[in-house]
Amino acid sequence: KRDGSDVGKEVVGERVVELVESGMVVGFGTGSTVGVFLRELAGRDVDVVGVCTSFDTELLARRLGFDVRSLSSVGSVDLAVDGADQVDFDGNLIKGGGAAHFREKVVASFSDRFVCIVDDTKVDSELDLPVPIEVAPFALENVLGEIGCLGGEGVLRSCGEKDGPLVTDNGNFVVDTDFGRIQKPERLSKEISCITGVVEHGLFPGMADSVLVGSSDGVRELRE
Ligand code: A5P
Repeated sequence: KRDGSDVGKEVVGERVVELVESGMVVGFGTGSTVGVFLRELAGRDVDVVGVCTSFDTELLARRLGFDVRSLSSVGSVDLAVDGADQVDFDGNLIKGGGAAHFREKVVASFSDRFVCIVDDTKVDSELDLPVPIEVAPFALENVLGEIGCLGGEGVLRSCGEKDGPLVTDNGNFVVDTDFGRIQKPERLSKEISCITGVVEHGLFPGMADSVLVGSSDGVRELRE
């Protein structure tokens, strides 16, 4: 996971609030950039329903006083706002540095509009970070074999705080997989999705309706 620049996160997290209107159902992504967005939104006079993409975000959103509901109960989302770990010049994303990419992808998919917010250190000509792949523990070794057939080198993510592998909010493992430079993100995305035992992966090709990029110079839209 890339730490990114705090200044860029602050300006873009604050700016994206302008897209939110009272009455909207808003998808709350995961990560520090979304944290800036949520704190800013909580201070505004707008009344929204929030659909959270992780336990971490849910705890923050409830603490900030948001009306939090499940995706199933609201059906669809007007606007999803989320960060990313890397963005290429075409707006393809790698997500999942915080292991929340499964729910993030579900919420983004069921949203009328998905806006990605990143600081400028996350933007590169090509995607080349390891792709987080969420895997059912039962199928780990088999999935690792299939990932190898696609040319990827997978490393099981460990927790850091406890011994053993990280377990996601959905009870699965994450395999961070190095594919080198990813020249065809859409194709690779489909290939990974075809592996039985893969729950979801962190490649988001062409999914963002817009990508807002923050830096010390302000906020710009990618591809403007
Ligand atoms: C969570 O799993 C990720 O997809 C995050 O959206 C991503 O890591 C961005 O996090 P930051 O805003 O903390 O950089």
